[in-house]
Amino acid sequence: MKVTESVQSLNEYVREQRDAGKKIALVPTMGNLHQGHLDLVARARELADRVIVSIFVNPLQFEPGGDLDNYPRTLAADTDKLLQAGADLLFAPDVNEIYAKDLSKTTQVVVPGLSSLWCGASRAGHFQGVSTIVNKLLNMAQADFAVFGEKDFQQLCIIRKMVADLNMPVSIIAVPTRREADGLAMSSRNAYLSSNERKIAAKLREVMVNLQEKISSGQYLDYQKAARQALETLHQAGFKTDYLAICRQSDLQLAEPDDKDLVILAAAYLGKARLIDNCIFSIAGH
Ligand code: PAF
Repeated sequence: MKVTESVQSLNEYVREQRDAGKKIALVPTMGNLHQGHLDLVARARELADRVIVSIFVNPLQFEPGGDLDNYPRTLAADTDKLLQAGADLLFAPDVNEIYAKDLSKTTQVVVPGLSSLWCGASRAGHFQGVSTIVNKLLNMAQADFAVFGEKDFQQLCIIRKMVADLNMPVSIIAVPTRREADGLAMSSRNAYLSSNERKIAAKLREVMVNLQEKISSGQYLDYQKAARQALETLHQAGFKTDYLAICRQSDLQLAEPDDKDLVILAAAYLGKARLIDNCIFSIAGH
């Protein structure tokens, strides 16, 4: 596996591979890799001849006062994992390689509408930072495929919309969320949980699955009321809830009773950790 910090050597690698007729898959990450990321790499391996993984903790997507400085950075361990997983190139640039000194003057990509809902409402500028870095990485890697986790469902929708709106020649591939044995979605931010909080954390998934089952079986027709009850259950369990919403998959607006393709989106704090999760499902109609 090649490792580089430089955009120029990434460009050279990409040019060589494309000239040789190789298909490229990109897996963008912020490092601190867990099995969920390795699933993305495995999917990328199935799709393409060459797999590029990027590790870059993107300052543009952290809100002021967020966890940018404390975000876990584990490059040596990540490199070992990627070697095992069969990545071909690890691109791990320094911030100065990616952005000019004054971040406020950098060109940014905005996906309107979707970016200001849900996580976007509580994390100002977050999705603008995500769409900007993903756009830049896709330009650098000239990838045929880019692979993302379904765990960040809103992020996935925003990236798909950016790629469609800007006619970017890349296929966006989604991979199901990898979970711990008790159902907690794997996330680098789970490291912020105390041992007591970790025990409570699985309740988020439990409440969402319960809600999904009740909706699917037609027991809950008033979605707003059902969401309020689920929020209350999480609150009782010790979460500081941000939102829980029953949405339609197409535009992440609140679902109406005749919508069929649904997604439950939720974000909640346990201590310092902000956990997000989702349940993606379709109903046959009642
Ligand atoms: O999902 C992530 O880890 C990040 O938001 C991404 C897509 C790598 C952009 O920084």
